[in-house]
Amino acid sequence: MPDDFETMWSSLAPVGRSASSGGYFRQPFLSAERELASWFEEQARARGLTVERDGVGNLVAWWGVSTGSTDHAGAVVTGSHLDSVLDGGAYDGPLGVVSALAALDLLVSRGFSPSRPLGVSVFVEEEGSRFGLACLGSRLATGAVSWSRAKELQDRDGVYFADAVASAGLPGSSDSSLLDGVATFVELHVEQGRDLVDRDAPVGVASGIWPHGRYRYEFRGRADHAGTTRMEDRADPMLTYAMTALAANKQARLSGERATFGRLEVTPNSTNSVPSGVTAWLDARASSPSSLEELVGAIERQASERASRDETLLIVTAESVSGAVSFSPELASRLADRRGWPVIPTAAGHDAGILSAAGIPTAMLFVRNPTGVSHSPYETASVQDCLAGVVALADVLGELAGD
Ligand code: GLV
Ligand code: MN
Ligand code: MN
Ligand code: MN
Repeated sequence: MPDDFETMWSSLAPVGRSASSGGYFRQPFLSAERELASWFEEQARARGLTVERDGVGNLVAWWGVSTGSTDHAGAVVTGSHLDSVLDGGAYDGPLGVVSALAALDLLVSRGFSPSRPLGVSVFVEEEGSRFGLACLGSRLATGAVSWSRAKELQDRDGVYFADAVASAGLPGSSDSSLLDGVATFVELHVEQGRDLVDRDAPVGVASGIWPHGRYRYEFRGRADHAGTTRMEDRADPMLTYAMTALAANKQARLSGERATFGRLEVTPNSTNSVPSGVTAWLDARASSPSSLEELVGAIERQASERASRDETLLIVTAESVSGAVSFSPELASRLADRRGWPVIPTAAGHDAGILSAAGIPTAMLFVRNPTGVSHSPYETASVQDCLAGVVALADVLGELAGD
């Protein structure tokens, strides 16, 4: 008998969990995330599914596809990711994977047998927490990013993506047939805000994803003595950064968008020195491409003005920009109309967005998160709502993969 939802959930709970914060550290190709990948393969095998793995470790466990076959014509795939942000929550990613396996079990118990291949996927490095580019696995699997670009990405310790992939015993690759023939993708995910709480709904359907960009801000100044240098004689990049962070927050509030500086590197990072450099990463998201452009433009303008006042130098590099995603309206309304679930947009990125942008009709289901908090140890969902999500997913998959 395969493990049920709650048994699967409790076997994942200790993996990569920090004893001090209770949050999760499941960075790609490091031990906790690899343990989860092996766990997934075991769960798939226990269900008699055929596991297919591409060169970077993306996985699909197939029902209705024999070993060695890469023919998935007309396939329906569901799944999510098992990596986490640094100190992340338990649900972001794993809920979609565990729910997918549980939904297949529910279909089996209903006597369902798929008329087309039905797969459960796990994509690597969804969060971009190690190599900086979110949804790297699904971008590689869809060809949105080339292997030649991906392999040069480095983590904070200077480890190349290609070497991290190799250290996990994976060959790396320039192309992937993993998603060939996939006709529909459905991702179930914990909600990362409060919309479902406000609407008193355990499950919702996503309409689309806001455009999103990550930008590296390098502020360069002059290192100097913290005690002897007069305040007016300094070229302090920390000051330019601080004013930029305030400006970004104000700008996003004014326009109803999102701007966050969540990562910072200071050189030389010493208490009694004026720093010589500060590198900060801006995460910006907005409801439309033009409002994202306006938001990012306004922040950069204010940062530049401040830099000239502070006599510091500013270099801004767009590390990645992802366009707006509209999920299949036909699928979304089919799910929502039949069951009365609310349809809501999201400002979080997902592999589903990458697959949708690659032309695969895609839908997302969200499960209510009572705290509304995500990318944090405080992220949560009730067992009851998770099980409602499993039933919802099984119903959708049964419709899509049935006769
Ligand atoms: C990933 O979860 C993101 O939206 O940043
Ligand atoms: Mn996330
Ligand atoms: Mn996620
Ligand atoms: Mn995400």
